Amino acid sequence: MIDSKIEDALNQQIELEARSSHFYLAMASWAENHGLNGTAEFLYRHSDEERMHMLKLVRFVNERGGKAVIPALDSPKSDFSGLQTIFSTLLEHETNVTQSINEVVDLCLSRKDYTTHNFMQWYVAEQIEEEALARNILDKLALIGSDKGGLYLFDRDLEQLQPEA
Ligand code: FEO
Repeated sequence: MIDSKIEDALNQQIELEARSSHFYLAMASWAENHGLNGTAEFLYRHSDEERMHMLKLVRFVNERGGKAVIPALDSPKSDFSGLQTIFSTLLEHETNVTQSINEVVDLCLSRKDYTTHNFMQWYVAEQIEEEALARNILDKLALIGSDKGGLYLFDRDLEQLQPEA
């Protein structure tokens, strides 16, 4: 049976992953409405990945004899001033997710729950990839600046770029 403190922490993580999915969905929709179809595709996929992160946690909590809580979600911010804002917001959000995962890992160690600790290592590795990807995208945007041709190519390239699963 799962420790109740660990169960609570995992349920908080479920909510955070669900909010991430919702948030990136709002970003994808904004991009689609601004003619940035490649960026929209990337963000729609990213939103799906976050739902998968949530689902993996839901199933783990239930398999361990706990009770996964499916959270209510507020409407996310849906208006953005541009791509720079989208991706810096995304990076900031992912940094918070990393911090939250690290706290779950800490708790697993202090409660001697090595099974959950092992399970969470997938999320630790995933966060390294996600943060690196967001930083890489921001570097590209900084290089492009206000160059419209560069922005066109950036958007086209993003369509092919896979967020890590
Ligand atoms: Fe599932 Fe991007 O954290």
